[in-house]
Amino acid sequence: MKVLNIGSLNLDHVYKVDHIILPGETEATGGMEIFLGGKGINQSMALAKAGVDVYHGGMIGKDGQVFIDACKEHGVNSDYIRFIDGKTGHTIIQVDKNAQNSILLFGGANQRLTTEYVDEVLEHFEKGDILLLQNEVNLLPYIVDEAYKKEMVIALNPSPFNEALNEVDLTKVSIFLLNEVEGGQITGLSDPDEILTCMREKFPNAKIVLTLGKDGAKYAEGDKVYHQPIYKVKAVDTTAAGDTFTGYFLAGMIDGMDVKDILNMSAKASSIAVTREGAVQSIPLKDEVLKALEEQ
Ligand code: RIB
Repeated sequence: MKVLNIGSLNLDHVYKVDHIILPGETEATGGMEIFLGGKGINQSMALAKAGVDVYHGGMIGKDGQVFIDACKEHGVNSDYIRFIDGKTGHTIIQVDKNAQNSILLFGGANQRLTTEYVDEVLEHFEKGDILLLQNEVNLLPYIVDEAYKKEMVIALNPSPFNEALNEVDLTKVSIFLLNEVEGGQITGLSDPDEILTCMREKFPNAKIVLTLGKDGAKYAEGDKVYHQPIYKVKAVDTTAAGDTFTGYFLAGMIDGMDVKDILNMSAKASSIAVTREGAVQSIPLKDEVLKALEEQ
């Protein structure tokens, strides 16, 4: 069984601010750094750091070689990442004094996938292989349809939620990994328990991971529901906390771990990620996560 993630690669321009800027306001920043990010590559890195062999697919511009280097460093297979003429995707991220963020996204190369490219990548995968997707690349409906035809197992993190997702046949998804905002947008509800119930009714065959910020996470499979509280830490940057949870959760499933242990490991991994700046670089290695769990 192989794991493929077709997803975004962004150069995150991260600005430290006192507060997230308001309309019409000008605010001096307390510093700026460029980090590797993008929900797609963050999740591939989390999978790899959790010990999974993962192939990443996506597009970058000539300014994106740094992603190939990082894939090599962290053990993500980059054979299916393509260079195109144009700019790598990027973000402008404000991180405030409470570690909260706001993200402005420029899709760039992430929005340049073609059906020929998708066909070429999927050709290397088969029935039972896992395909992980987020919503920062174009052609999501096509990718889902083609992977489903091949009987791949589709895991979707519908983030960020926007109208492009309305074109995706979500009944083809086997695992949803989403937060309460995205859950609310899919179901039209706001109460987490109601969101989970509605998701289970709409997608009775899917496994559902619902992250709830400071209230932890819930996981539903069949008629079983599990709850995982957070590990309280002093956060400096919450960027990629959800991506870390997603990667670690899938890694635990792939390893056949017990659900409660998977949730616990994922929560611990996220709690470590938020104590560090940046996205890719904030995601801990599995050894570190397991050691932290042992020591508590
Ligand atoms: O989930 C965090 C990521 O969202 C950031 O790395 C940024 O690139 C945006 O895609």
